[in-house]
Amino acid sequence: MLLLLGRRLSLSFVHRLTTCCPPSLSSSVLIKLRAITRVPHNTVFVSAARQNTVTMPERRPFVRLPTDVYPVNYGLCLKPDLIDFTFEGKLEAVVEVTQATNQIVMNCADIDIITASFVPQGGEEINATGFNYQNEDEKVTLSFPSSLQKGSGSLKIDFVGELNDKMKGFYRSKYTSTTGEIRYAAVTQFEATDARRAFPCWDEPAIKATFDISLIVPKDRVTLSNMNVIDRKPYPEDENLVEVKFATTPIMSTYLVAFVIGEYDFVESQSSDGITVRVYTPVGKAEQGKFALEVATKTLPFYKDYFNVPYPLPKIDLIAIADFAAGAMENWGLVTYRETALLIDPKNSCSSSRQWVALVVGHELAHQWFGNLVTMEWWTHLWLNEGFASWIEYLCVDHCFPEYDIWTQFVSADYTRALELDALDSSHPIEVNVGHPSEVDEIFDAISYSKGASVIRMLHHYTGDEDFRKGMNAYLLKFQHKNASTEDLWDCLEQASGKPIAAVMSSWTKQMGFPIIEVDQEQVSDDRILKISQKKFCASGPHDGEDCPSWMVPISVCTSEDPKCTKLKVLLDRPDTTITLSGVAPDQWVKINPGTVGFYRIQYSSSMLESLLPGVRDLSLQPVDRLGLQNDLFSLLHKQADMQEEKNRIERVLGAISAPDLIQKVLSFALSVHMTTFTARCKVFWFWFFSG
Ligand code: BES
Ligand code: ZN
Repeated sequence: MLLLLGRRLSLSFVHRLTTCCPPSLSSSVLIKLRAITRVPHNTVFVSAARQNTVTMPERRPFVRLPTDVYPVNYGLCLKPDLIDFTFEGKLEAVVEVTQATNQIVMNCADIDIITASFVPQGGEEINATGFNYQNEDEKVTLSFPSSLQKGSGSLKIDFVGELNDKMKGFYRSKYTSTTGEIRYAAVTQFEATDARRAFPCWDEPAIKATFDISLIVPKDRVTLSNMNVIDRKPYPEDENLVEVKFATTPIMSTYLVAFVIGEYDFVESQSSDGITVRVYTPVGKAEQGKFALEVATKTLPFYKDYFNVPYPLPKIDLIAIADFAAGAMENWGLVTYRETALLIDPKNSCSSSRQWVALVVGHELAHQWFGNLVTMEWWTHLWLNEGFASWIEYLCVDHCFPEYDIWTQFVSADYTRALELDALDSSHPIEVNVGHPSEVDEIFDAISYSKGASVIRMLHHYTGDEDFRKGMNAYLLKFQHKNASTEDLWDCLEQASGKPIAAVMSSWTKQMGFPIIEVDQEQVSDDRILKISQKKFCASGPHDGEDCPSWMVPISVCTSEDPKCTKLKVLLDRPDTTITLSGVAPDQWVKINPGTVGFYRIQYSSSMLESLLPGVRDLSLQPVDRLGLQNDLFSLLHKQADMQEEKNRIERVLGAISAPDLIQKVLSFALSVHMTTFTARCKVFWFWFFSG
């Protein structure tokens, strides 16, 4: 899961990680670079070929939970002990038996069950006679002496567990009090498959239920969960404890359940749509929560408006946790963050820290709809959850803080990083089938996040904002409080736009890599004829495999007449094509991929590239376009482009500059070395050139 942290290659952020975290944490961040996914249905060894997606090596047998008993409501009471680092739990779950059975299989890990029984509605209690733990599979089978009949019933389980120090499940987080004492908070991190470490449950995203949570805690501690508190009363057996009861949640997946017990201060506000927003900080640091509070109160109405669906809970808390493995986690109504992703010291913070906090808050709040209200059917679709949130966080920050010019950051961070990684032979498709929980960690990386976000951005541009919103709204309304797959979203977008979304998107999600688009032009009277072709771009050299992969590539074109405006859009759904731009005078330049939204590299013919240079020089080409052009040239130079051609290019460009001595020096410097250094020096040259 933790590649999530590394997915943004912002050096300032890496710096923040390595300087602000305790040593154990920062090393875990650097080592654990992934997250989660699994196979659909009760399948053993899913065939990857069937779905044209990649199978991980050494797959372990994996079977999803049986469907003969499922939960409707979890009544869950937990009593953590912050001194012994243990907890006691009582589960009273309303369940539905769909087929008579004398056993119940649930997820359970590192938990000891003390007693279990089943009470059929209106019937006699049946005590479980055996608890068979399948530790490898993180499951337990409860056996009953007689058959549980079809219908409703109540499953009661008493259990104990450890408040672990592994930053997953129900764990302890160490902090120093204002008086310098070492203390512990009890917190949760359940995504993807660690709710089962806090209570026995059906720990799969599609098995949704409501939750009634109660916590028995020291009376001087802040106690939070997904919902608002509805009751708080003294605990009869210990005058230092209270029992805090929370309102019933909407139907939801187990991985989004959360609770926190600790010492915190908070700042509070109301969003314009009436939601109570609080940001919890370490004691004495409430001031540092104010920026995140401002972001959250601006963000909630933005999403309400964008999705056209109100935020469904009465409150949302954002809390900074001292020991936190991921960057942040979108638990419904109680979003947890590592401190550096939430707190801003108003006196000593730089704008990149503010931008980072705004993006993280924007990301996790987007999940409140996309992920929490509509949840992926299985972990295979986690890429969509994360890719979507990683795209819309920018849309949101751009709306709330236009002065940040945040899309330029997207291009220079996520987009270019995704292109660089995905050009390697070691890349993988965004969508990968995963089975056993242990496999989920293996694929969640910058490809899933940054390429995921980049292809959603390309899709948004291809459909246009209006149709995209229409499709999103249909998707959220159709699947709210339910589960959906990637294909369900494509269907809704296809309906809204009338475009072949599923076919286009599958070519980007189910195969690794991306194309290089070669472009040449010809002027025929007032028309500009563009010859466009695609082939796989490989950092290791031209693709020479037998079956050359191809993509359905949305291509847009602009001209110097209006560099900000797309003049033509086409879908390249074959190896090559010819398009005609009418009414383009011979002195106009033509640029492919305005806005740098398409997930591909471009190789212009020499004459086309040269004709673009005035647009670079006079800055009429937009910054993201100059960035994209520069980045494509760098990457081509790096491995693919013909070295002689590159030398010629530099000479031509230098010839257009009026400083012959300097030029001659730069040129001989660049050309006086062997290939590797040549490449590096050309980079320096182009950088120097583009930065004017
Ligand atoms: N849901 C993820 C965190 C996560 C993913 C936990 C998979 C476990 C498994 C969360 O929304 C997320 O993406 N967090 C990012 C930060 C965010 C701003 C991109 C992270 O933790 O790096
Ligand atoms: Zn996320």
